[in-house]
Amino acid sequence: MLAIIGGSGLTELSGLDVSGRKVIRTPYGEPSGVLSFGRLKGCEALFLPRHGYAHSIPPHRVNYRANIWALKSCGATRIVSVASVGGIRADLNPGDIVIPHQIMDYTWGRKHTYFDGNDMSVTHVDFTHPYDEILRRQLVLSAAAAGISIQDGGVYAATQGPRLETAAEIDRLERDGAEVVGMTGMPEAVLARELDMAYAAINPVTNHAAGRGQSAENIHFERLGEILREVMGRVRTLIEGVIPMSCCRRAED
Ligand code: HPA
Repeated sequence: MLAIIGGSGLTELSGLDVSGRKVIRTPYGEPSGVLSFGRLKGCEALFLPRHGYAHSIPPHRVNYRANIWALKSCGATRIVSVASVGGIRADLNPGDIVIPHQIMDYTWGRKHTYFDGNDMSVTHVDFTHPYDEILRRQLVLSAAAAGISIQDGGVYAATQGPRLETAAEIDRLERDGAEVVGMTGMPEAVLARELDMAYAAINPVTNHAAGRGQSAENIHFERLGEILREVMGRVRTLIEGVIPMSCCRRAED
């Protein structure tokens, strides 16, 4: 079953025909909110807003372990994560959509692994390619089929937040090879890998990163609502396009 984790601008998935909502308790505490169950394009799907339904949980306080655990325990095998970003690469502009292929992690102090117990053998998951390539390709194909322009590939830098970066920090991220910057991509991606779930991301660009383009002097989010509203329409279409590309339980099954 496909699960969608919504970020800023996606606290509800309008195409999801919700059949129920469930409070899930996990060994790691509470997820960001109740899980919404339903059908998307006739297939079973799950939805969870990462920042809560009231958009009140900041990136560093999201209980990523509980979120991924809850989705897995409800039968999700694949996750499409929606997370907005600032564009570092010069050709990325607000409103663009990136389907990233790599991650660099600059976060700290987050509970970032399930393999943490004293009674467990030491486990190192492979994370060479942090996103599931099949799911990533499906998102790219979905975009092509819908005539939606996307950037196929991008290096995502996960920063701690909740503050935005300094211009010098963005310069450093760019020297490191980052093309977009966001605050929630990690440890979400690695936790999905630890639970053997396919995970891919859609990164809508909401602003030029600090010190770049329109953010040369400061990052102003006045147009944020407008940009998010418009871009999330395309994001929903991308997600819906992925549904028929892989096996799922249809309503009539
Ligand atoms: N930096 C970090 N996270 C973000 C940004 C940004 O510029 N824009 C949206 N999420």
